[in-house]
Amino acid sequence: MQKSLWIFFIFLGLLSCKNTDEKPKVANADLQMYEASEMTILMRQMYEVNKVVKNQIINKDSLLDFPDEFKKIHTAVLTDPSERDDEFDILATSFIDLQKETLSINSDSIIYNYNKSINTCIKCHETRCTGPIPKIKKLLIK
Ligand code: HEC
Repeated sequence: MQKSLWIFFIFLGLLSCKNTDEKPKVANADLQMYEASEMTILMRQMYEVNKVVKNQIINKDSLLDFPDEFKKIHTAVLTDPSERDDEFDILATSFIDLQKETLSINSDSIIYNYNKSINTCIKCHETRCTGPIPKIKKLLIK
């Protein structure tokens, strides 16, 4: 197998919901790829986009437009559909509002707004999908 593929699998292992204390095995990573739900794919996009946004804010670059795909958080199919309860919907709505605010209002409060939106990611993950929390925390601007 090509080296780049291995790196990709390890990267997937780091992001997944499950506890990543164990070294990711390729068999598991393969399985995760086949089982990746619509929501998982969306979440990975949200993660990558926010990495870009963080750098744009730090470098005082102009910010990308709010990605309309993010609204799919309200409809995307979850691995475990029972995780979509009232609290999920409330957090999803405030996440979308805060990301829109961050990306559309370039003001002194941009870092505050951005961190608030990332804290919504963390809040939702505390009860549903704890694995990626350390990675998500790194998105915060200190
Ligand atoms: C409203 C709740 C909620 C919000 C807000 C939320 N997530 Fe998630 N996230 C989830 C759930 C639930 C899953 C599991 C999805 C599944 O298994 O179908 C998930 C999965 C993930 C994954 C794991 C994907 C994988 O490879 O297994 C990552 C990474 C992630 N989210 C990052 C983020 C980031 C970054 C943000 C904010 C920019 C965010 N999430 C906001 C609920 C949320």
